[in-house]
Amino acid sequence: MKPILNQSIATAVSADNLAAVERPAATACGLPNATYTDPQFHSFEREQVLGKTWAALAFCADHDRTGTVTPVDFMGLPLLIVCNQQGDLGVFHNVCSHRGMRLVNATKHTNGLLVCPYHAWTYDLTGNLKATPHIDGVGNHQMAGFCREKHGLKAVRSHCWMGILFINLSGEAAEFNEHIAPLAARYAPYLGGDGERLLAQSQSDTGLSFEAQCNWKLAVENYCEAYHLPWIHPSLNSYSPLERHYHVIISADFAGQGSDTFNPILAGDTPLPTLPCWPKEQLKIAEYPTFYPNLLLGFQVNHFYGVIIHPLANDRIREEVRFFYVGDGASAEQHLRNRQSNLKAWRKVFSEDIDAIEGMQQGRKSPGFQGGVFSPTMDALTHHFHQWVARKYQQADQRMPAQPY
Ligand code: FES
Ligand SMILES: [Fe+2]
Repeated sequence: MKPILNQSIATAVSADNLAAVERPAATACGLPNATYTDPQFHSFEREQVLGKTWAALAFCADHDRTGTVTPVDFMGLPLLIVCNQQGDLGVFHNVCSHRGMRLVNATKHTNGLLVCPYHAWTYDLTGNLKATPHIDGVGNHQMAGFCREKHGLKAVRSHCWMGILFINLSGEAAEFNEHIAPLAARYAPYLGGDGERLLAQSQSDTGLSFEAQCNWKLAVENYCEAYHLPWIHPSLNSYSPLERHYHVIISADFAGQGSDTFNPILAGDTPLPTLPCWPKEQLKIAEYPTFYPNLLLGFQVNHFYGVIIHPLANDRIREEVRFFYVGDGASAEQHLRNRQSNLKAWRKVFSEDIDAIEGMQQGRKSPGFQGGVFSPTMDALTHHFHQWVARKYQQADQRMPAQPY
């Protein structure tokens, strides 16, 4: 096993700890407390876990106005989401190539140019450096030997899928379509070839947003299992009970659970439109895979949702939830009551989880717990996720601390 170079990380999480996670669930031990409670793991995981694969950054429809630029913080890294003049989304490091000024400090609409507030170096929305005022003395805006082409904004690899914007910080992950092939194959019979185009983000609400005082991994772990349903979500358990849930392990990068009796009662009279390809004998199937590392998904016949987990610190997250409906289900007035009703039902479920994930964070401050144990049947997916994280730790390269992207 390749050593994790950073010595203090290696001290907190040994090769033996990681091997214990990798054992079969019945004898495995979970990740050590330090990976949840020690602040140094925040940047380590940004570089070596979330940064090495495709991580969710934002919902496309929140940023799709042509000319709009939005600064976002990704685990302490200043990034910039740009909707260029062609309406395409891109992501750049939010830093000027001249003296490293943060380029944009608030969402704004531009005329296609980004001007650094410090010395007015100017970029277009595809990142090209277009103007360098007075670079060679007052009135001399060009300089012999200075090649603007080499000093544009630094792009971050990005891709849009199902209305969600992903980034790969390291640039080393497989092509996005290759990466998600197992997930896409799983849902192709439900979405059909047209599903991604048919689903649109709800236009009557701005989704849900929650903050929780916990490590990002706990939000994933909680989403991986239905074991807690009877105690944390009695109302959800009434229309999608624990005993009707099943596990879905799609691949090493995608796993979750499903229910074969998802049947909520919504308030409106007009049923929401449904996905035309969804198998007619499976209308009550709902599946909840996690797109490791930080995206929780919900597939239902009449709506889809995504929950992006933003790790703000080692012990703090923000969850952003957006709902997508089929065709005019996303916007038509006649479906408003059902959209509102659906939002209300999910708000209840997601809120109920906050106390659980914050409680697990508190528990990880105790020397009386060190990774815990797994029920091989009920916690199989939690263990699957722990194994995924452990493998990322094992693969951590020799470049700590962070290298420039
Ligand atoms: S730091 Fe941006 S123009 Fe100088
Ligand atoms: Fe839950």
